[in-house]
Amino acid sequence: MEVLAQKLISEIRAAGLKAPAKIVFGAGVFARLEGLARELAGDRPVFIVTSPFLAPQAEALRRALPGEVFAQVRGEPTVRLADEAAAQARRLRPGLVISLGGGSVMDTAKAVAALAVNPGSVRDYLEGLGHRTQLETPPLPHIAVPTTAGTGAEATRNAVIAAPDAGVKRSMRFDGMLPAVALLDPALTLSVPRAATAAGGLDTLTQLIEVCISAKRKPAVTALALQALTLVRTALPTCCADPHGQEARAAMLLASFISGVGLANAGLAMAHGISAALGALHNVPHGLACGILLPATLRYNRCACEPELSAALAAFLNGSTAAAAGGRRRRSQTAATEADDVIETGLAEIEKLQRQIGVPGDLRHLRLDTAALQKIAAGSMGSSMSGNPIAMNPDNTLAFLQTIS
Ligand SMILES: [Fe+2]
Repeated sequence: MEVLAQKLISEIRAAGLKAPAKIVFGAGVFARLEGLARELAGDRPVFIVTSPFLAPQAEALRRALPGEVFAQVRGEPTVRLADEAAAQARRLRPGLVISLGGGSVMDTAKAVAALAVNPGSVRDYLEGLGHRTQLETPPLPHIAVPTTAGTGAEATRNAVIAAPDAGVKRSMRFDGMLPAVALLDPALTLSVPRAATAAGGLDTLTQLIEVCISAKRKPAVTALALQALTLVRTALPTCCADPHGQEARAAMLLASFISGVGLANAGLAMAHGISAALGALHNVPHGLACGILLPATLRYNRCACEPELSAALAAFLNGSTAAAAGGRRRRSQTAATEADDVIETGLAEIEKLQRQIGVPGDLRHLRLDTAALQKIAAGSMGSSMSGNPIAMNPDNTLAFLQTIS
């Protein structure tokens, strides 16, 4: 997996995509964290953001590096949590922020790296909610150390923050918020429980497919996403069935990172648009929401992105389109029919994966009435929705939601 990682990193650099200045991938690279931190922090303390679950590891790190630990990230960050972490960081005046955890931890740390040296609340900077559109001072350097494979937040320049008073999740997004270093050690993901592994993997899969079909897609991003997609179909169920399968864990961590590079450099689509509202209004975890919505949203968008969807699903089916089509295809069939076969087979495979890892295929279990669906539709119009292949508004989003509720 290290060889493929180096190849993909070279492609990221050659295409000039936005990505962390330093990307370190491989089993055991966590041992390099202390040295990298000393280089970036200089003689200033470090501020370590983590979850209560990982507090012992963060404390061990703090004993080696002077600084403080904020270990209160229990779920997806809210305005209140990010402001609390930022207040502690402002008092410490660190030279470096380190995040050790999943997407929620890394997003909190990105916001802290910016707010530690800038005035105001995180709410002031949220897209569509706040009044501040610039950072006065560049954020502190940040070393992101993901301990789950899922969001690829170590490769993105936005922090998704919930504003419960407004019933929405929105991004704080600035170029300087991209972590300086992504330290990707698959060994750190071996202990992730099955449910979180499944949800994170579905988020990765959704991001990789959506960057390929988005109206904001870019060829260099699609090329990377297609290579990462070939890893997911085998690696995700393997990680769920055998948590200590090192090669499968490495494959999913790499796929997750590439999905983050993808969303940082291109757009997403409606599974992400609606997931944001489901998370903010009904506390549906992000990866689970993506996993529920992925097949239905792809069927909905199919007519507007057939070639792109076919390419993405062919890669997901490990490039073996003939085998994937189950021999149904004949030599005389047209390319359009072949694409059709690949899409049908690919969507059926994603639905099989959903069942295999225990994710529902619709929203019926949430028992949402029309008023609730209207609120979700209205809350889905964030930046991901603007990249959907079919132009979406609250009316057609509501009509779609009614088909799966
Ligand atoms: Fe996502």
